[in-house]
Amino acid sequence: MGEDTLYQKTFTITGSDFDKAGEVSTQIKAILKAAGLDSTVIRRVASASFEAEMNVVIHADRGKIDFELTPTAIVLTIDDEGPGIEDLELAMKEGYSTASDDMREMGFGAGMGLPNIKKSSDDFHLESEVGKGTTLRITIKHDEQ
Ligand SMILES: Nc1ncnc2c1ncn2[C@@H]1O[C@H](COP(=O)(O)OP(=O)(O)O)[C@@H](O)[C@H]1O
Ligand SMILES: [Mg+2]
Repeated sequence: MGEDTLYQKTFTITGSDFDKAGEVSTQIKAILKAAGLDSTVIRRVASASFEAEMNVVIHADRGKIDFELTPTAIVLTIDDEGPGIEDLELAMKEGYSTASDDMREMGFGAGMGLPNIKKSSDDFHLESEVGKGTTLRITIKHDEQ
């Protein structure tokens, strides 16, 4: 946590828990609304955190989202334990998905999550270790309040 952090909270995510899926991004959205941030910024953060949260639910075993609000940015670090990603470049391609048929039946697996997270972010950093897990760190800037 940086010394200019205004607010910090860590949320946990459970893999395959579709009843709770999306709750973390809903909570993050509420925090940003209460902080009085611009609705465009809130939408970008909410869509990125939802996609990142769903990636843990769908593709990993368990994970955490660390949320930090600073005077100039929102920083999200999504860290999971899971299979990891073998080919990061391929995973970033629009339409690429390894989601199972069951997941696709539930409406997931469009392969647009990671590319859209990158588009929503001012800074995007993805790293992964096969057999261990994945860490995604994104920054979305906002105007000083
Ligand atoms: N947290 C993760 N753990 C393991 N694999 C992941 C994770 N996030 C993404 N991936 C891999 O990257 C692919 C592309 O992700 P994404 O663009 O979000 O599409 P989708 O989730 O619809 O498959 C996934 O299908 C999966 O193979
Ligand atoms: Mg996805």
